[in-house]
Amino acid sequence: MGLKGVILAGGLGKRLYPLTKITNKHLLPVYGKPMIYYPIQTLVDAGIEDILIVTGGMHAGEFLRLLGNGREFGLRHINYTYQEGEGGIADALKLAEYFADNDKIVVMLGDNIIQKNIKDAADEFRRQPRGAKILIKKAADPERFGVCEFKGERISSIEEKPKKPKSDYAVTGIYMYDHQVFDIVRGLKPSKRGELEITDVNNAYLKKGELTYNILKGWWTDAGTFESLLKANNLAAKKSASFPSPPTGERAG
Ligand code: DAU
Repeated sequence: MGLKGVILAGGLGKRLYPLTKITNKHLLPVYGKPMIYYPIQTLVDAGIEDILIVTGGMHAGEFLRLLGNGREFGLRHINYTYQEGEGGIADALKLAEYFADNDKIVVMLGDNIIQKNIKDAADEFRRQPRGAKILIKKAADPERFGVCEFKGERISSIEEKPKKPKSDYAVTGIYMYDHQVFDIVRGLKPSKRGELEITDVNNAYLKKGELTYNILKGWWTDAGTFESLLKANNLAAKKSASFPSPPTGERAG
């Protein structure tokens, strides 16, 4: 059974307004590339070749123009789907059911950027008989994220943007799920902010005793606020200086 990839790139990116007034957040520049290039590369580096991009809003067509069939990433084909409205991360995930077709999936938020790769975690999940795996990372500002509470080494619960975080381990926007995820999502109710929350999905797996976790290696950032977008640009610039991209042959002038 294969492992497929899903990138969630819908939503309105309101926290980046007016940058997102005339384009989609995931098309904004992060150092030398549009933001969405980074999660695509992360999935490709984990050996995932079958990728679905979920987008929405007024600029969905631009993704097709930008990415086409993914030749720049060595892909033969990219799948696209369209989220009506912005009902939350778990609402966007619903649209991946047909694509997943009972296979396991790695879901990555389109505004998450990491330094290293997730190959080991993806390989472990390929071998995990059922359930889910999340990637967590110590953060200086955990209250901006889903936050883990621990009992010993085990995660006992996850809270979405808690005022008083019970640890400094944030849940990154990289999630691995088996086919049960779509039944879980169907049972969700909107949160106080009116969205279907991915944290509720992870807590449902936790309740079943089927959630594993790895600690992500290297740095991680989102890029959904002015501060984190600036940070993402600076980190991507540093990474590019240590691993320059191969020349594209289009740099004249
Ligand atoms: O970055 C990791 C964090 O992402 C997690 O720690 C949180 O638990 C999780 O809820 C999420 O938090 P945010 O509030 O920062 O997520 P945001 O609303 O910015 O959405 C992140 C991405 O998800 C966004 O770049 C595109 C996608 N998305 C979001 C919404 C609301 C969609 O595709 N559709 C949507 O309707």
